[in-house]
Amino acid sequence: MKKIGILTSGGDAPGMNAAIRAVVRSGISAGLEVYGVFNGYEGLVNNNIRKLERGDVSDIIIQGGTILGSARLEDFKLVEVRQKAVDNLMEHGIEGLVVVGGDGSYRGAQALTEMGINCIGIPGTIDNDIDSTDYSIGFDTALNTVIENVDKLRDTSSSHHRCSVVEVMGNRCGDLAIYAGLTTGAEIIITKETGYDESEVLARLRHFEEVKRKRHAIVIISEKITDVHLLAQKISQHSGFSGRATVLGHIQRGGSPTARDRILATQFGDKAVQALVAGEGGRCVGVVEEQLITIDINEALQLPKKTRKPLFDLHDRLV
Ligand code: F6P
Repeated sequence: MKKIGILTSGGDAPGMNAAIRAVVRSGISAGLEVYGVFNGYEGLVNNNIRKLERGDVSDIIIQGGTILGSARLEDFKLVEVRQKAVDNLMEHGIEGLVVVGGDGSYRGAQALTEMGINCIGIPGTIDNDIDSTDYSIGFDTALNTVIENVDKLRDTSSSHHRCSVVEVMGNRCGDLAIYAGLTTGAEIIITKETGYDESEVLARLRHFEEVKRKRHAIVIISEKITDVHLLAQKISQHSGFSGRATVLGHIQRGGSPTARDRILATQFGDKAVQALVAGEGGRCVGVVEEQLITIDINEALQLPKKTRKPLFDLHDRLV
């Protein structure tokens, strides 16, 4: 193998740039030419591909976002669309590809591998919803962004005897909510795993206010569960707290990556290059109990959902 490519796909995540840097520099150190594909799978199909040198990735380890751009391309499911991508890669002589993204991106990587281009996936998503790895690139930075904002909301909630309902991202994975809830001492955490019962939430808030005499309350809730503004209104109507809702939104996707994300991305990038050099394809990298691993993409996509029950139980004991 002489030439490899790299693309970032799906929602961007802080640390993707650190992964790009690692792939480019590890690749060059291994004697390869490394090509950047711009705007995810779209760039493969449109032949938006350019050779990257060591200097092209200088200074990006500290930057959020992705210098390659990212996109979601539904049409990549179509074999004729993927064939265009394969033709473009072959035209450049690119035989291996590193794909940084979430599970949708992994499916594209698997399909391309089956069409003759060895692909290695790197988990890059703030949602941490990839079950083959304990952590994905971007999760730690997003979590720290949530913590910083919830800490601020706590100050003002306390001054005004309010309950702050904070909606965090996660795309049906509750990791951001549970980790943020534990690290900010939130009173209530609501995710897909806990389920949502409005009257129970209101009863618990009344208990915090009337029995535990709390001056404020924080409710952290995953997106796509309920309308948080309506919930805040109900809290004002049915508890002693005045309710306010904050949707943190895309602020969680930005910012300079934390040390943890930079290290993870650097290790993942290097591991992915090693896998390609070893002739592997259709695999993805991950970290499991502090060990770097690679696993078959098909297997990774079929793993059962990780349960966070021990973390919820811990939260319940401490609140
Ligand atoms: O997958 C990352 C993520 O930020 C999810 O948490 C969220 O549901 C989704 O992407 C938002 O997508 P978009 O940026 O396309 O609005």
